[in-house]
Amino acid sequence: MSSRSASDARRPRTAVGGRSRGDRAARGVASAKSLAVLAALSLVFGSGCWENWAPIWFPMMKKQPSIQAFEDTGVQGHAWGFAPPDGAIPIDGGEPHIDRLDLVAADALQNPFAADDLRSLENGREQYTQFCATCHGATGRAEGPVAQVFAGVFPLVALTTGRSDGYIYTVIRYGAGGKPGLRMPGYARIAPDDRWDIVNYVRYLDRIGRQGGTP
Ligand code: HEC
Repeated sequence: MSSRSASDARRPRTAVGGRSRGDRAARGVASAKSLAVLAALSLVFGSGCWENWAPIWFPMMKKQPSIQAFEDTGVQGHAWGFAPPDGAIPIDGGEPHIDRLDLVAADALQNPFAADDLRSLENGREQYTQFCATCHGATGRAEGPVAQVFAGVFPLVALTTGRSDGYIYTVIRYGAGGKPGLRMPGYARIAPDDRWDIVNYVRYLDRIGRQGGTP
């Protein structure tokens, strides 16, 4: 048994050893060639710029008379040459920037919607529920699920009573806490009109809350 397995193990070695030197040399040349081809291919395809080499060899749909991504079209004032489509509105509504801590500028902002405007309150409730209630709670008493685990969410009831509409609006726009936006994120992505509607709804929550009611 042991002698048979020993000879089995020896057999493959004998087979390789049985090949002539010429065989081995030929195999060496062949593998060197295929290595060189591989290296050349990886240089051409792996470098990422093979597509620039020969449009005749590598014709592509990409190469056509159209504007490529990030190609400068020469439109003034647009770094990447992207002109916004007609009718596009910047996400911050194109409002002038005001410093979050500039209380005079914030207080001077005018709420375009009346405090008892039902349309505004309805939309304000929808927006508030979506963006604010997770922290400040449905009633504005800082009872939202995030406030259960993240200490320091301010209640809006009573706290906002003495604040101007413009101040609350500016808090929504830029956030609050230390460096504004640090503890409460800013919501520049909420459209300005929707922000004013939220302001009206926060005022409503404050009024109801101070009377001990629920919204
Ligand atoms: C991620 C949780 C979170 C969300 C969501 C959130 N807030 Fe806040 N908010 C806070 C925290 C925390 C503070 C306290 C910031 C501080 O330390 O000054 C705060 C403070 C405020 C204040 C008082 C700011 C001051 O300086 O008096 C107002 C007003 C307010 N939030 C309104 C809103 C409104 C409206 C929304 C929805 C658009 C909203 N918040 C969404 C966490 C949140």
